[in-house]
Amino acid sequence: MKIESVKMYKIAIVPGDGIGKEVMEATLEVLDGLNLDLKYEYGEAGDEYFEKNGVAILDETIDLIKNSDACLFGAVGETAADVIVKLRQELDLFVNLRPIKSYPGTNSLFKDLDFVIVRENTEGIYVGQEEYTKDGAIAKRIITKEASERICNFAFKYAKDNNKKKVTAVHKANVLKKTDGLFKKVFYEVANKYPNIETEDYYVDAMAMYLLTKPQTFDVIVTTNLFGDILSDEGAGLVGGLGLIPSGNIGENNALFEPVHGSAPDIAGKGLANPTAMLLSAVMMLNYLNEVKNADLLADSIFNVLKEGKSLTLDMGGNSSTMEMANEIKNKLLERL
Ligand code: NAI
Ligand code: MG
Repeated sequence: MKIESVKMYKIAIVPGDGIGKEVMEATLEVLDGLNLDLKYEYGEAGDEYFEKNGVAILDETIDLIKNSDACLFGAVGETAADVIVKLRQELDLFVNLRPIKSYPGTNSLFKDLDFVIVRENTEGIYVGQEEYTKDGAIAKRIITKEASERICNFAFKYAKDNNKKKVTAVHKANVLKKTDGLFKKVFYEVANKYPNIETEDYYVDAMAMYLLTKPQTFDVIVTTNLFGDILSDEGAGLVGGLGLIPSGNIGENNALFEPVHGSAPDIAGKGLANPTAMLLSAVMMLNYLNEVKNADLLADSIFNVLKEGKSLTLDMGGNSSTMEMANEIKNKLLERL
């Protein structure tokens, strides 16, 4: 009998704070049902870690993630800038890929949405270069040609590889003439290499409206760091909330997968958190590792539970706990194995 060999992956696990811990526990429980050899290495980071140790993340934890095949990250709280934003910059995870999809059985405002936000993840106003002045404070917004090129290249290649028709750039080049002027110029230079892909660009304020009035027209949206952050929460609102939206932070050498949501102190510790965003982040991780069969199996199990509507968390109108929903997903998965 031929035994299929299973490749071992080293996965860094950083649960973080609040519901980050709860959705991580739920996700690892579900992953346990797959035929995979995942070797977990745990790292601590976030508000609680900071309170105990005076730093939000240790260099050793950053190295642990660097030396892993991929990282699963829950969420942190007020230390987000010192943890997740720092990780994105230090590991040069220049893409933040955020798929916005209307899944069956959800409170999605639209039935047929399927677009991705490709957010530049290493610069813009999130470089954290702020200082007080005698009148108030100043923040620097850094846009480089190199980072703009690589994020636009990623967006167009993603569109091509995934049969998406159009790439939309979002900026505010009418006011931020130098920074976003450069981003817009680079976008159209990169677009020239992809004559078969449609292009358009919008100012971010108009885009905030178009996401509500014509979201079906978007395929791939590429934008700078802060705009991508804001528009992806708006995207989450379009399809049923932050409990549903996963993300991948991807660089040349490393990748970290996390839900778009934060530590949600308003519901933390109550077993109310929807584990779907974290689980779909694990699906993105499995696809990144080329474990496509396992990724599809996990995704189908999640969608079946959403569609059935019997084991849903409060945000989706159900009354199941985080773990009850996760266990139902695991059961669906085990039925299929
Ligand atoms: P949040 O994403 O934590 O929560 C926003 C709203 O969505 C809350 O009402 C929350 O209950 C709800 N929500 C979020 N995830 C949910 C889930 N899985 N199931 C059900 N409902 C869910 O954003 P907020 O409240 O602005 O920030 C809370 C903390 O999280 C802050 O300290 C912030 O700095 C941090 N944060 C961390 C991030 C990260 O680690 N990547 C990202 C965003 C915020
Ligand atoms: Mg955000």
